[in-house]
Amino acid sequence: MLTITETDFQRLVRFVKQNYGIDLSKKKQLIVGRLSNSILSMGFSSFEEYVDHLLKNHTPEDLELMLNKLTTNYTYFMREESHFEFFTEVILPYLIETKKNRSLSIWSAGCSSGEEPYTISMILKEYLGSQASMWDTRVLATDISQNALKAANNAVYDKDSLRNLPPGWKEKYFRPAGTPGVYTVSPAIKSNVIFRTFNLMNPIKFRLKFDVIFCRNVMIYFDQETKDALVNRFYNATNPGGYLLIGHSESLNRNSTPYHYIKPATYRRE
Ligand SMILES: C[S@@+](CC[C@H](N)C(=O)[O-])C[C@H]1O[C@@H](n2cnc3c(N)ncnc32)[C@H](O)[C@@H]1O
Repeated sequence: MLTITETDFQRLVRFVKQNYGIDLSKKKQLIVGRLSNSILSMGFSSFEEYVDHLLKNHTPEDLELMLNKLTTNYTYFMREESHFEFFTEVILPYLIETKKNRSLSIWSAGCSSGEEPYTISMILKEYLGSQASMWDTRVLATDISQNALKAANNAVYDKDSLRNLPPGWKEKYFRPAGTPGVYTVSPAIKSNVIFRTFNLMNPIKFRLKFDVIFCRNVMIYFDQETKDALVNRFYNATNPGGYLLIGHSESLNRNSTPYHYIKPATYRRE
Protein backbone atom coordinates (compact mmCIF):
# COMPACT_ATOMS: atom_id res chain seq x y z
CA MET A 1 0.00 0.00 0.00
CA LEU A 2 1.25 3.49 -0.85
CA THR A 3 1.22 6.49 1.48
CA ILE A 4 -0.05 9.95 0.57
CA THR A 5 1.29 13.32 1.75
CA GLU A 6 -1.11 15.96 3.04
CA THR A 7 -0.35 18.11 -0.03
CA ASP A 8 -1.17 15.34 -2.53
CA PHE A 9 -4.25 14.35 -0.53
CA GLN A 10 -5.53 17.95 -0.66
CA ARG A 11 -4.75 18.26 -4.39
CA LEU A 12 -6.69 15.08 -5.14
CA VAL A 13 -9.59 16.03 -2.84
CA ARG A 14 -9.87 19.45 -4.57
CA PHE A 15 -9.80 17.88 -8.05
CA VAL A 16 -12.56 15.37 -7.24
CA LYS A 17 -14.72 17.96 -5.48
CA GLN A 18 -14.42 20.58 -8.21
CA ASN A 19 -15.21 18.16 -11.01
CA TYR A 20 -17.65 15.68 -9.45
CA GLY A 21 -18.92 17.35 -6.25
CA ILE A 22 -17.81 14.42 -4.10
CA ASP A 23 -16.24 15.61 -0.85
CA LEU A 24 -13.49 13.19 0.18
CA SER A 25 -11.78 15.55 2.65
CA LYS A 26 -12.37 13.09 5.51
CA LYS A 27 -11.65 9.98 3.45
CA LYS A 28 -7.85 9.67 3.36
CA GLN A 29 -7.94 5.98 4.24
CA LEU A 30 -10.52 5.28 1.55
CA ILE A 31 -8.44 7.06 -1.10
CA VAL A 32 -5.25 5.22 -0.18
CA GLY A 33 -7.03 1.87 0.18
CA ARG A 34 -8.95 2.07 -3.09
CA LEU A 35 -6.33 3.67 -5.34
CA SER A 36 -2.91 2.31 -4.27
CA ASN A 37 -2.92 -0.91 -6.32
CA SER A 38 -4.27 0.79 -9.45
CA ILE A 39 -1.65 3.55 -9.19
CA LEU A 40 1.12 0.94 -9.01
CA SER A 41 -0.32 -1.08 -11.90
CA MET A 42 -0.49 2.07 -14.03
CA GLY A 43 3.29 2.36 -13.56
CA PHE A 44 3.39 5.27 -11.10
CA SER A 45 5.53 4.84 -8.02
CA SER A 46 3.81 7.37 -5.76
CA PHE A 47 0.62 9.34 -5.21
CA GLU A 48 2.62 12.46 -6.11
CA GLU A 49 3.33 11.13 -9.65
CA TYR A 50 -0.26 9.97 -10.04
CA VAL A 51 -1.83 13.24 -8.86
CA ASP A 52 0.56 15.25 -11.11
CA HIS A 53 -0.54 13.14 -14.07
CA LEU A 54 -4.22 13.37 -13.15
CA LEU A 55 -4.15 17.15 -12.80
CA LYS A 56 -2.03 17.89 -15.86
CA ASN A 57 -2.61 15.31 -18.58
CA HIS A 58 -5.22 12.74 -17.69
CA THR A 59 -6.97 10.67 -20.34
CA PRO A 60 -10.71 9.83 -20.23
CA GLU A 61 -9.67 6.31 -19.12
CA ASP A 62 -7.77 7.74 -16.12
CA LEU A 63 -10.89 9.60 -14.99
CA GLU A 64 -13.05 6.53 -15.55
CA LEU A 65 -10.80 4.36 -13.40
CA MET A 66 -10.59 6.98 -10.65
CA LEU A 67 -14.40 7.33 -10.54
CA ASN A 68 -14.88 3.57 -10.54
CA LYS A 69 -12.59 3.39 -7.52
CA LEU A 70 -13.74 6.43 -5.56
CA THR A 71 -17.52 6.39 -5.90
CA THR A 72 -19.63 4.48 -3.38
CA ASN A 73 -22.21 2.45 -5.26
CA TYR A 74 -24.03 0.58 -2.49
CA THR A 75 -27.72 0.08 -3.27
CA TYR A 76 -30.44 -2.58 -3.43
CA PHE A 77 -33.96 -3.10 -4.77
CA MET A 78 -36.78 -1.25 -2.96
CA ARG A 79 -34.29 0.68 -0.81
CA GLU A 80 -36.09 3.14 1.51
CA GLU A 81 -39.42 1.65 0.59
CA SER A 82 -41.54 4.42 2.13
CA HIS A 83 -40.62 6.52 -0.93
CA PHE A 84 -42.06 3.83 -3.16
CA GLU A 85 -45.25 3.69 -1.07
CA PHE A 86 -45.65 7.46 -1.48
CA PHE A 87 -44.85 7.11 -5.18
CA THR A 88 -47.60 4.49 -5.57
CA GLU A 89 -50.20 6.02 -3.28
CA VAL A 90 -49.81 9.74 -3.98
CA ILE A 91 -47.52 10.60 -6.87
CA LEU A 92 -48.71 8.10 -9.49
CA PRO A 93 -52.46 8.71 -8.95
CA TYR A 94 -51.78 12.46 -9.34
CA LEU A 95 -49.70 11.99 -12.50
CA ILE A 96 -52.11 9.54 -14.12
CA GLU A 97 -54.93 11.97 -13.48
CA THR A 98 -53.15 15.06 -14.76
CA LYS A 99 -50.78 13.96 -17.55
CA LYS A 100 -53.09 14.18 -20.51
CA ASN A 101 -50.29 13.33 -22.95
CA ARG A 102 -49.88 9.93 -21.24
CA SER A 103 -46.19 10.42 -20.77
CA LEU A 104 -44.38 10.26 -17.43
CA SER A 105 -40.83 11.54 -17.09
CA ILE A 106 -38.92 10.02 -14.23
CA TRP A 107 -35.20 10.39 -13.51
CA SER A 108 -33.07 8.23 -11.26
CA ALA A 109 -30.08 10.57 -10.77
CA GLY A 110 -27.15 8.63 -9.30
CA CYS A 111 -28.69 5.27 -10.20
CA SER A 112 -25.59 3.21 -9.39
CA SER A 113 -25.96 -0.41 -10.60
CA GLY A 114 -29.62 -0.06 -11.58
CA GLU A 115 -31.61 -1.37 -8.61
CA GLU A 116 -33.41 1.97 -8.07
CA PRO A 117 -34.60 2.58 -11.67
CA TYR A 118 -35.54 -1.10 -12.09
CA THR A 119 -37.58 -0.88 -8.87
CA ILE A 120 -39.36 2.16 -10.35
CA SER A 121 -39.93 0.27 -13.60
CA MET A 122 -41.52 -2.66 -11.69
CA ILE A 123 -43.77 -0.32 -9.71
CA LEU A 124 -44.94 1.36 -12.92
CA LYS A 125 -45.81 -2.06 -14.38
CA GLU A 126 -47.67 -3.06 -11.22
CA TYR A 127 -49.54 0.21 -11.01
CA LEU A 128 -50.53 0.57 -14.64
CA GLY A 129 -51.26 -3.12 -15.24
CA SER A 130 -53.02 -3.61 -18.56
CA GLN A 131 -52.90 0.18 -19.19
CA ALA A 132 -49.07 0.14 -19.25
CA SER A 133 -48.86 -0.07 -23.04
CA MET A 134 -50.94 3.13 -23.35
CA TRP A 135 -48.35 5.16 -21.43
CA ASP A 136 -44.81 6.28 -22.18
CA THR A 137 -43.14 5.56 -18.86
CA ARG A 138 -39.46 5.29 -19.70
CA VAL A 139 -37.18 5.97 -16.75
CA LEU A 140 -33.93 7.88 -17.34
CA ALA A 141 -31.14 6.53 -15.11
CA THR A 142 -27.75 8.28 -14.89
CA ASP A 143 -24.46 7.91 -13.04
CA ILE A 144 -20.79 8.84 -13.43
CA SER A 145 -19.37 5.44 -12.57
CA GLN A 146 -18.89 3.33 -15.71
CA ASN A 147 -18.58 0.17 -13.60
CA ALA A 148 -21.93 0.90 -12.01
CA LEU A 149 -23.53 1.58 -15.40
CA LYS A 150 -22.06 -1.64 -16.84
CA ALA A 151 -23.58 -3.60 -13.94
CA ALA A 152 -26.88 -1.78 -14.51
CA ASN A 153 -26.89 -2.71 -18.19
CA ASN A 154 -25.99 -6.32 -17.34
CA ALA A 155 -28.91 -6.38 -14.89
CA VAL A 156 -27.69 -9.50 -13.07
CA TYR A 157 -28.19 -9.49 -9.28
CA ASP A 158 -27.62 -11.64 -6.26
CA LYS A 159 -30.71 -12.72 -4.26
CA ASP A 160 -29.58 -10.54 -1.30
CA SER A 161 -30.20 -7.43 -3.38
CA LEU A 162 -33.78 -8.61 -4.02
CA ARG A 163 -34.58 -9.23 -0.33
CA ASN A 164 -36.84 -6.15 0.10
CA LEU A 165 -39.07 -6.81 -2.89
CA PRO A 166 -42.72 -7.75 -2.19
CA PRO A 167 -43.59 -11.48 -2.33
CA GLY A 168 -43.93 -12.77 -5.87
CA TRP A 169 -41.99 -9.97 -7.60
CA LYS A 170 -38.85 -12.08 -7.97
CA GLU A 171 -40.83 -14.70 -9.90
CA LYS A 172 -42.70 -12.05 -11.90
CA TYR A 173 -39.93 -9.63 -12.84
CA PHE A 174 -36.73 -11.70 -12.83
CA ARG A 175 -35.35 -14.79 -14.55
CA PRO A 176 -32.79 -17.22 -13.08
CA ALA A 177 -29.37 -16.22 -14.41
CA GLY A 178 -27.91 -19.74 -14.49
CA THR A 179 -26.07 -19.68 -11.14
CA PRO A 180 -28.07 -20.56 -7.98
CA GLY A 181 -29.25 -17.40 -6.18
CA VAL A 182 -28.48 -15.11 -9.13
CA TYR A 183 -31.22 -13.43 -11.17
CA THR A 184 -31.55 -11.20 -14.20
CA VAL A 185 -34.18 -8.51 -14.72
CA SER A 186 -36.90 -9.47 -17.20
CA PRO A 187 -36.85 -7.77 -20.64
CA ALA A 188 -40.10 -5.86 -20.03
CA ILE A 189 -38.66 -4.17 -16.93
CA LYS A 190 -35.23 -3.65 -18.46
CA SER A 191 -36.42 -2.09 -21.69
CA ASN A 192 -38.28 0.61 -19.76
CA VAL A 193 -35.03 2.05 -18.35
CA ILE A 194 -32.51 4.11 -20.32
CA PHE A 195 -29.03 4.34 -18.81
CA ARG A 196 -26.74 7.28 -19.57
CA THR A 197 -23.51 8.72 -18.22
CA PHE A 198 -24.19 12.09 -16.61
CA ASN A 199 -22.15 14.14 -14.16
CA LEU A 200 -24.53 15.93 -11.78
CA MET A 201 -22.11 18.87 -11.66
CA ASN A 202 -23.01 19.67 -15.27
CA PRO A 203 -25.92 21.82 -16.49
CA ILE A 204 -29.11 19.76 -16.89
CA LYS A 205 -30.06 19.91 -20.55
CA PHE A 206 -32.40 16.99 -21.09
CA ARG A 207 -35.13 17.55 -23.65
CA LEU A 208 -37.98 17.14 -21.17
CA LYS A 209 -38.57 18.31 -17.63
CA PHE A 210 -39.22 15.65 -15.02
CA ASP A 211 -42.32 14.68 -13.06
CA VAL A 212 -40.24 12.90 -10.45
CA ILE A 213 -36.53 13.04 -9.71
CA PHE A 214 -35.09 10.37 -7.43
CA CYS A 215 -31.67 11.55 -6.21
CA ARG A 216 -31.19 9.41 -3.15
CA ASN A 217 -27.98 8.82 -1.23
CA VAL A 218 -25.95 10.81 -3.75
CA MET A 219 -25.81 14.29 -2.23
CA ILE A 220 -24.59 12.88 1.11
CA TYR A 221 -21.15 13.03 -0.50
CA PHE A 222 -21.55 16.72 -1.53
CA ASP A 223 -20.93 19.84 0.57
CA GLN A 224 -23.77 22.31 1.25
CA GLU A 225 -22.86 24.73 -1.55
CA THR A 226 -22.63 21.96 -4.17
CA LYS A 227 -25.88 20.48 -2.92
CA ASP A 228 -27.75 23.83 -2.99
CA ALA A 229 -26.60 24.50 -6.55
CA LEU A 230 -27.63 21.01 -7.70
CA VAL A 231 -31.03 21.29 -6.02
CA ASN A 232 -31.62 24.57 -7.90
CA ARG A 233 -30.74 22.85 -11.18
CA PHE A 234 -33.11 19.97 -10.27
CA TYR A 235 -35.85 22.52 -9.52
CA ASN A 236 -35.51 24.12 -12.95
CA ALA A 237 -35.70 20.64 -14.49
CA THR A 238 -38.87 19.66 -12.56
CA ASN A 239 -42.37 20.11 -13.99
CA PRO A 240 -44.73 22.20 -11.84
CA GLY A 241 -46.38 19.72 -9.44
CA GLY A 242 -43.40 17.38 -9.80
CA TYR A 243 -41.40 15.84 -6.97
CA LEU A 244 -37.79 15.52 -5.76
CA LEU A 245 -37.06 12.51 -3.56
CA ILE A 246 -33.76 12.42 -1.64
CA GLY A 247 -32.30 9.85 0.78
CA HIS A 248 -33.85 9.69 4.26
CA SER A 249 -30.51 10.49 5.90
CA GLU A 250 -30.35 13.71 3.85
CA SER A 251 -32.25 16.98 4.05
CA LEU A 252 -32.50 20.20 2.06
CA ASN A 253 -31.92 23.64 3.49
CA ARG A 254 -35.56 24.64 3.97
CA ASN A 255 -34.73 28.36 3.97
CA SER A 256 -33.00 28.33 0.62
CA THR A 257 -34.61 25.51 -1.38
CA PRO A 258 -37.28 26.59 -3.85
CA TYR A 259 -39.01 23.20 -3.39
CA HIS A 260 -41.92 22.90 -1.02
CA TYR A 261 -41.33 20.47 1.86
CA ILE A 262 -43.90 17.63 1.86
CA LYS A 263 -42.42 15.22 4.40
CA PRO A 264 -38.97 13.89 5.26
CA ALA A 265 -36.92 13.37 2.09
CA THR A 266 -39.87 14.39 -0.11
CA TYR A 267 -40.13 17.78 -1.84
CA ARG A 268 -42.40 19.24 -4.47
CA ARG A 269 -42.31 22.02 -7.03
CA GLU A 270 -45.54 24.00 -6.62
C1 LIG B 1 -24.82 5.20 -2.94
S1 LIG B 1 -25.19 5.29 -4.64
C2 LIG B 1 -26.94 5.61 -4.59
C3 LIG B 1 -27.73 4.65 -5.44
C4 LIG B 1 -29.25 4.80 -5.33
N1 LIG B 1 -29.69 6.12 -5.71
C5 LIG B 1 -29.72 4.47 -3.94
O1 LIG B 1 -30.19 5.33 -3.20
O2 LIG B 1 -29.60 3.30 -3.54
C6 LIG B 1 -24.53 6.90 -5.10
C7 LIG B 1 -24.26 7.02 -6.58
O3 LIG B 1 -24.05 8.40 -6.92
C8 LIG B 1 -23.12 8.45 -7.97
N2 LIG B 1 -22.54 9.81 -8.05
C9 LIG B 1 -21.72 10.42 -7.17
N3 LIG B 1 -21.36 11.63 -7.63
C10 LIG B 1 -21.98 11.79 -8.83
C11 LIG B 1 -21.99 12.83 -9.79
N4 LIG B 1 -21.29 13.96 -9.65
N5 LIG B 1 -22.72 12.66 -10.92
C12 LIG B 1 -23.43 11.51 -11.11
N6 LIG B 1 -23.46 10.49 -10.23
C13 LIG B 1 -22.73 10.62 -9.10
C14 LIG B 1 -22.09 7.39 -7.61
O4 LIG B 1 -21.35 6.96 -8.72
C15 LIG B 1 -23.00 6.28 -7.02
O5 LIG B 1 -23.31 5.29 -7.97
